[in-house]
Formats: sequence, structure tokens, C-alpha cells
Amino acid sequence: MDIGFMQFAPALGNVQATIDRIDKLGEFCAGVDLLVLPELCNSGYNFESQEQAWATSEEIGNGVFLQYLESLCLRLGCHIVSGLNERHGSHLYNSAILVGPQGYVGRYRKLHLFMNEKDFFEPGDLGLPVFDIGPCRIGMLVCFDWIFPEAWRVLALKGADIICHPSNLVLPGLAQRAVPIHALTNRFYVVTANRIGCEGDLTFTGMSTIADPKGQVLAQAPPVGEKVNRIEIDVSLARTKDITSRNNILADRRPEQYTLLTE
Ligand code: ACM
Repeated sequence: MDIGFMQFAPALGNVQATIDRIDKLGEFCAGVDLLVLPELCNSGYNFESQEQAWATSEEIGNGVFLQYLESLCLRLGCHIVSGLNERHGSHLYNSAILVGPQGYVGRYRKLHLFMNEKDFFEPGDLGLPVFDIGPCRIGMLVCFDWIFPEAWRVLALKGADIICHPSNLVLPGLAQRAVPIHALTNRFYVVTANRIGCEGDLTFTGMSTIADPKGQVLAQAPPVGEKVNRIEIDVSLARTKDITSRNNILADRRPEQYTLLTE
């Protein structure tokens, strides 16, 4: 499989400008099978008000951003995971959506909200789904979810081969160091698509990363600047959870000793 990320700056409150930018960078994506875009791609991140957060959201259905992603998937013959400011009833969720050539496939709603996100979004309520798209099984996490090892492990237990991780990271370098370790300890691939640029007092840290089941960094973007990066991977590597001839990272767990984790 050819998997990749698109690192760029979604435009706060200007979905058409964001679509134009993705379309331009899409020129570097011919032949890609799975592409990951940053968090809150349709809206931008650092809202000034609840009105702005609401006005920039879209319902999953026939919103302009989802429709655009569907057309791009069809054009490229690929799947895309993107962050989405999702409106549902009277609530907003910081979501990741999976879209393919046949259209919308599924969503994940960010479980662990960061800083001021708590003023705008409800915490996720859909658990940690895994979607089988044929060549691989996809799990999704959004940005600050990275610091919770439990979430990564649940996705490994559910059989995810690739974790798509739309991000708007602001703490310099922390997630980018942790992601390869999560990949290693769960033996799956991770694609972190981080954004660049500034919004108000926030500077986003780039360094989008692809890590493999051995914890190796296969690709990493610079901290500034747009970048599309793609790597050919062997999905079957993520399906071997043996780490020695007598150790399997899932079978060797001792869940009865970890009960504190769920209290
Ligand atoms: C973050 O979760 N956007 C830092």
C-alpha cells in the first residue's frame, strides 16, 4: 500500500480556501492508497467564539467538505482520513472521518479534548472503531489522544493495521517522539498528519510522521512548510505481533493485573 500525509495550514473559517489548497497539493498524490489530512480541516482550530465554531462545522451528509473529499477519493482512487468539525444535533465533535471512492465510510470522535477544545466540543462518544477497507484495517485517533496509551492499545486489540492521526499539535516535538513508540509497542503503522502555521497565540508544529511496526520513522516532514509525503508499506508486518519466538505482544498481556486502568 502507498500511504501518506498532507501537511499544510487549513484556513480558519474559510473552507473553500482549504479545499483549494488540498486540491493543489493533491497533484502530488497520484497513486496514493491512503492519505491523512490534519485535525479540524474543514474549520481551522483556534476559534474566537462558540458562534465561529458552530458556523464552521458541518453535519455528516452532504456538507461541502465531505462532498469535496468524496470527489477527491474518486479522482485519486484512494481513501482519505481527515479531521472534521462535526455538527450533530445541538453538539459539536472534534471528529476524524474516513472516506473512500464509494463515499463516506465512518467516523471517530476525539475522546480526549485539549485545552480550549473543552469550550467548543463534546468529548467523543463512539469509542474506538476500526474499519476494514480491504487491503488494511484502519483506526483513528485525533491529536492529543496521542498521550493516552490505552487508546492505542484498544485499537491494536481490535486489529487495526494503520492508525490515522489527524493533528494540530502545539507542544513542540512531544507527540512526534511518542508516535514511533506507540507504533513499536503495538506493532502497527501510524500516520500523523500535523498542520503548520499560526492561529492567534498558537503555533502548530508540523513534523508530520509515518512510523512502522518496528518503531522506525519512515517519513517525517519539516516543522514548517507544506509537505506531501508517501511511503510504500507492507501491511502484513502489522499483523505479526510476535516479538520473539516465545513472546507475542498481545497474547502475553496480563489484563487481570491491570484492573486499575478501567476504574
Ligand atoms: C491538540 O489536541 N490539538 C493539541
